[in-house]
Amino acid sequence: MPEENIVHKGLEGVTVSETKVGFVDGEAGRLVYRGYNIEDLVENATYEEVSFLLINGYLPNKKELDGYCSALNRAGRLPAEIVDFIAASAEAYPTSVLRTAISYLGQMDDASVKPDFSQQREIAIGLIGKIPSLVATIQRARNGEKYIEPSPDLSVAGNILYQSSGKKPDKKIGRVMDVCLMLHADHGSNASTFSSMVTISTLSDMYSAVTAAVSTLKGPLHGGANEMALKMIKDAQRSGDAAAFISDKLSKKEKIMGFGHRVYKVYDPRARILKNYAREATASEGREILFKTAQIIEDTMISKLGSKGIFPNVDFYSGMVYESLGFRPEMFTSLFAASRITGWSARSLEYLADNKLFRPRSSYVGERGPLTFVPLAKRTG
Ligand code: CMC
Repeated sequence: MPEENIVHKGLEGVTVSETKVGFVDGEAGRLVYRGYNIEDLVENATYEEVSFLLINGYLPNKKELDGYCSALNRAGRLPAEIVDFIAASAEAYPTSVLRTAISYLGQMDDASVKPDFSQQREIAIGLIGKIPSLVATIQRARNGEKYIEPSPDLSVAGNILYQSSGKKPDKKIGRVMDVCLMLHADHGSNASTFSSMVTISTLSDMYSAVTAAVSTLKGPLHGGANEMALKMIKDAQRSGDAAAFISDKLSKKEKIMGFGHRVYKVYDPRARILKNYAREATASEGREILFKTAQIIEDTMISKLGSKGIFPNVDFYSGMVYESLGFRPEMFTSLFAASRITGWSARSLEYLADNKLFRPRSSYVGERGPLTFVPLAKRTG
């Protein structure tokens, strides 16, 4: 078969770029950011250090980190037009509001028309600071509450919690949010990252690339799975028999949200870390039953589909953790974006530095004709 007719559905197995940002070893269950194991980073670093690392390729010294934190904090102050837009959209679906707010920020910034490389970088860092603030403000607006500026003495994680709830978080809670941000910051050529790279490859601007990425993240097969996974765990709990609930879904060929992955064929290391946080969070809230239900679902799935390489992914346990931090389920995908903006930026900038327009082919299987054109008035049926 001619090469142009070989279809790689979903681009499965196709390598589209070289990268130094990070890699996912799907067989060993290993996630690496710029050479560092995710477990080491989660244990020792902060989200700001991880974000700097992914963008710049090395861990910052104290001065660089302070400068980066200040830049993100400043960027987190939202323009009045955006705050008003979010307040007026309080009833709308949060990921849609986030997507439009990012597009709106682009429209307000003259640099977005024809940005050079350094402007693209500036826009990216601006968005790394702005998106967490947008997300917190969206949650706040849904509660009918007014915008709060980020506090200069808080981290990105601390400010997401502060700006959404109005209360400065204690160290332990702030650390849980920080871990969630680190775990979601980057993950190979996933669909939303690829989307941002395709957009930037046309020499469009970073706001447009990130708007495309959020649109892609929204889908239930990608970042939308976390919200649906928690809903399913709660439905399974209500059913009274979680194992039968899942078996019934599988017999109807339904996908179980929060399981399976294109790359991981073993346990997702992010899910392993989040599972511990979910266990702790539900125990301290007296909601052990929710965690127990999730464990039954996990056991049932692994016994039925583990041999096919289907295990919990990052989205299975993250919802329980986000809920314990005070976020409504419809906010979960936006929270994912608040951190994945780092990966989108790092990989789009890396690609742009050695750019080649993405332009794959499709194998045409339709009518080749030429058919005889029939004028509208003469068409029947
Ligand atoms: N529940 C039940 N069966 C599954 C699942 C699942 N979650 N995932 C895969 N399978 C089965 C699927 O039915 C198929 O079976 P068969 O060979 O009998 O037709 C086989 O496994 C291969 O599935 P696929 O969907 O063709 O494989 P993929 O590589 O395209 O799937 C996936 C990756 C993430 C889309 C899929 O596992 C899925 O739909 N999972 C549920 C949604 C989800 O949790 N998404 C979040 C992914 S991780 C975070 C992120 O990157 O966004």
